[in-house]
Amino acid sequence: MRKKIIAGNWKMNKTLEEGMGLVSEVSNMLKDEYTGSAEVVIIPPFTHINSISKLIAENPRLKSGAQNCSNHKSGAYTGEVSADMLKSCGATYVIIGHSERRQYFNEHNDWLAKKVDAVLLAGLNPIYCCGETLEEREINTHFNVLHTQIREGLFHLSASDMKKVVIAYEPVWAIGTGKTASTEQAQEIHAFIRSLIAEKYDADIAQSITIQYGGSVKADNAAELFRSPDIDGALVGGAALQSRSFVDIVKAMA
Ligand code: 13P
Repeated sequence: MRKKIIAGNWKMNKTLEEGMGLVSEVSNMLKDEYTGSAEVVIIPPFTHINSISKLIAENPRLKSGAQNCSNHKSGAYTGEVSADMLKSCGATYVIIGHSERRQYFNEHNDWLAKKVDAVLLAGLNPIYCCGETLEEREINTHFNVLHTQIREGLFHLSASDMKKVVIAYEPVWAIGTGKTASTEQAQEIHAFIRSLIAEKYDADIAQSITIQYGGSVKADNAAELFRSPDIDGALVGGAALQSRSFVDIVKAMA
């Protein structure tokens, strides 16, 4: 069975103190209220990863991750953070290619492919994001856009490395807008991504890869999204900043 993963991407929000408080609440609520199978990943800013990883160490359901990392292993790259550093702080996952990185920091697929390699080399798991803009959907180029993002960012990987990747489909028009993709729209794209993987690798690998949906996931739309056969969890932004709304999304996953 595929792993179900609900991840909370805090983006650039929460001081360390606020973040520690939020994680303690989430951890306690999950212990009291959730018996399902999902893994829950907290993805705070870099500065909080070490403290949060220590705080969640006693709750096996919880893991931590980072929102980005350098494509270099080490060296004179002022301001950058390497995958090895993230591992040494307790991270398990690293988001690569979030649309905000693509849009505001000009990160392109060839660059992202190198970041994916750096994450895997450090023994961590990439959460590789893909997704079309509203304009790309309106002119019906979204399948091509997604195919290119997946092919150029991931398809250089060996089959054994590919199995370590989590994919997050986040349509740009649904991020932070309150507009979720309909369950049918999301399912269609998830099945499409899985078919690309089956074509490039094989059906077993395609069936084993966790594909999350992201974009205005809330407690009241999560259950319906999670009922779709190819939606294996969520990458949550805004609703991950409060314990009640985040835990309610987790609870929507059986
Ligand atoms: P929202 O849930 O706030 O739309 O953000 C989604 C996202 O970008 C998660 O990475």
